Amino acid sequence: MKKGIFLVTEKLHYKDNKLFFENIDLKTLVKTYKTPVYVYSKNQIIENYKNYDSALKDRAYLICYAMKANSNREILKIINGLGGGVDITSGGELYRALNAGIKPEKIVYAGVGKSEQEIIYAIKNKILIFNIESKEEAILINKVAGRYNKKVLVAVRVNPHVQTNTHSHISTGEEGTKFGIPINEVIDFFKFLSIQKYLDAKGLHFHIGSQITQINPFLAATKKVVSLIPKLRQIGIKIKYLDIGGGLGIKYKTEEPPTPVKLMKNLLKFVSKDLIIICEPGRYIIGNSGILVTKVLYHKTVGNKNFLIVDASMTDLIRPAFYGAYHNIVPIQVTDCFGENMDYYDIVGPVCETSDFLGKKRLLPNLENGDYLVVECAGAYGFSMSSNYNSRPKSAEIMVSENKFYKIRDREKYSDLVRKEIC
Ligand code: LLP
Repeated sequence: MKKGIFLVTEKLHYKDNKLFFENIDLKTLVKTYKTPVYVYSKNQIIENYKNYDSALKDRAYLICYAMKANSNREILKIINGLGGGVDITSGGELYRALNAGIKPEKIVYAGVGKSEQEIIYAIKNKILIFNIESKEEAILINKVAGRYNKKVLVAVRVNPHVQTNTHSHISTGEEGTKFGIPINEVIDFFKFLSIQKYLDAKGLHFHIGSQITQINPFLAATKKVVSLIPKLRQIGIKIKYLDIGGGLGIKYKTEEPPTPVKLMKNLLKFVSKDLIIICEPGRYIIGNSGILVTKVLYHKTVGNKNFLIVDASMTDLIRPAFYGAYHNIVPIQVTDCFGENMDYYDIVGPVCETSDFLGKKRLLPNLENGDYLVVECAGAYGFSMSSNYNSRPKSAEIMVSENKFYKIRDREKYSDLVRKEIC
């Protein structure tokens, strides 16, 4: 390791001063595909998925990858090939999932604002379960199901009122958020569901937030939610599915989140073996499987601050601007005399917003214009939250697998920007 440079992504390593992702020299890859470009490691995705698999192996379970983290078809196909399903949150995600070959009986659907059209689409396609978030939604699902004369499986998304240590924008299980049914109202909610002719209420669901790096919030939520099961049995409701959501954090810098095995070992002690467990990891599967490669365009010094202006921006990766998120940034070429020429830089993009940065005060060597940087752990909520703001075409996406690499999404062209415009 070069002085002052550290890597957090397992599948990245320097060899002869060049940065490799799996066995691919990133410089060769960017010469072919240009920048900014997202690159994913197929083997990291598989390893991450298998870690969840082995954490649950003694149980009846279904891993439903939260595809909002990254919904590229190739990634969904990998998940499908491993036997996984998906957690969806819109009709668009259902379309993508079916298009990638995910089986409807492995699809779970959460979200506070499912439209009638989306509900029809999901019922017609026979998804496994709706995670219901309000009374009005339940009434609508019942009505639509009646129209098709189908009884649909539903779970109640419980808001267990637990505190997490994550960013407030991505904490969902605390009192006062828009998500789920407050835990103290859940029994009455099931009573209400039991009189809906076309709803088969057999599940409990919770998802308390994202990038959670401690076991305790998950444990508190699990205990609270499973404590509802005997109470529900007393009123004649038998729970068959327990969906424990996603939310397991990853290491972006110095975090030390539990492994899925450790997390499940702690949680499952409190969960009866009769239940089918559903889990919805997103970030854990794809976060450290992806990087964003960008090129240095210019240097600029303002007062005593150094800026590196690069060709990726908040339109490619909004997490730093949106959540103040930290992503480690490293050069793809290093030299042996590193350490002597290091300085602090803010790495910023071309977009017309002061919040358009990828990293602040990062210690980096003196780079030339045209050199490349890698933004680490950008696989989750990177491309999937990208936009065309400032009329910037979205970047290409590439998959690497050992010695091979292949394109899984074309870079957008300028003509794509106006394709849907009418006059
Ligand atoms: N299940 C449900 C119902 C969810 O809403 C989410 C994420 C997940 C599962 C997956 O959570 P994960 O395992 O990825 O933590 N854009 C934010 C994260 C938003 C998460 C939204 N819900 C970010 O970039 O940090």
